[in-house]
Amino acid sequence: MTDQRPAAYAGPKRVFSGVQPSGDLHLGNYLGALVKFVALQDEMEGLYCVVDQHAITQWQEPAKLTAQTREIAAAYLAAGLDPAKAIIFPQSAVPQHTELAWIFQCVARVGWLDRMTQFKDKVGKHKERASVGLYTYPVLQAADILLYKATHVPVGEDQMQHLELTRDIAAKFNHDFDAPGFFPLAQPVAEGPGARIMSLRDGGAKMSKSDSSDQSRINLTDDADAIAAKIRKAKTDAEPLPQTVEGLAGRPEADNLVGIFAALSGQTKAQVLETFGGQGFGQNFKPALADLLIARLAPVSARMRGFLADPGQIDQILADGAERARALAEPVLTETRRIVGFWPG
Ligand code: TRP
Repeated sequence: MTDQRPAAYAGPKRVFSGVQPSGDLHLGNYLGALVKFVALQDEMEGLYCVVDQHAITQWQEPAKLTAQTREIAAAYLAAGLDPAKAIIFPQSAVPQHTELAWIFQCVARVGWLDRMTQFKDKVGKHKERASVGLYTYPVLQAADILLYKATHVPVGEDQMQHLELTRDIAAKFNHDFDAPGFFPLAQPVAEGPGARIMSLRDGGAKMSKSDSSDQSRINLTDDADAIAAKIRKAKTDAEPLPQTVEGLAGRPEADNLVGIFAALSGQTKAQVLETFGGQGFGQNFKPALADLLIARLAPVSARMRGFLADPGQIDQILADGAERARALAEPVLTETRRIVGFWPG
């Protein structure tokens, strides 16, 4: 009997990830994404993109978009991504992304996109007023990843469905064009210790740069006073901290703050509760948490400010990254065009 399984992808391991320049980066981005990117840069070749084309699926002030693109690049660098190892670049500087996205729009089915929960959540009741780009957003994301034949993608829970769609597109392309193993089926890589950091105002909502309340998040650019004030005001409940992890059940705000403490200190939640269990939040726990946050984030935000003081250097790094990205992308796209049958074949 012949083997019916599709040929496995045989290329090298490669990481791709992207962050939208649509607001300030916060603690959740740092501990979830950036810390993970830095750990991965020594394991495999990696591309870390500032996805400005994704950002404009919702309105962005043009001048702010440029500034925020530099800010995300500065945050990547401040967190420890090394441009000698990792490729850091703006998506719009590599036009191959949108060319591959067009081909993938003809591979993906309307039914697949209709199932995307993030689109439904973002548009709510007003689907007809959303941009067409917001609807096809996940197809561009698939193009980002597959343009470099990336095999590993560090993303949070909320992006899993987009990554599954990426695999569906890769598999259907490989199948329809009889090109077994041409595109890899990219795997998720679990995010760092801060993957589930929640809002400081609502333990049921993820910490988010689009939350209208700045009190809900610790921004990478917050100074020590702002961090201390936000932790002092962070929502808790009336009970003291529990003695055990089981005692955090049904107490999302307490669970979140203990989780942040654990992620920052490299301890388990149980260890944190050994120290603080039975005490009120304001007694020792919140001041210690604020100190920990300030100690961890102050050097990152200082480095970020240093990079932002020299935009010429950031632009040089982004231009160099874009050139390296284009050099990887072009042969993949040339081969893709040939497989599809575009002239001259
Ligand atoms: N959609 C991702 C987010 O909002 C950003 C993104 C765009 C991305 N392209 C990507 C993430 C490719 C990983 C890989 O977080």
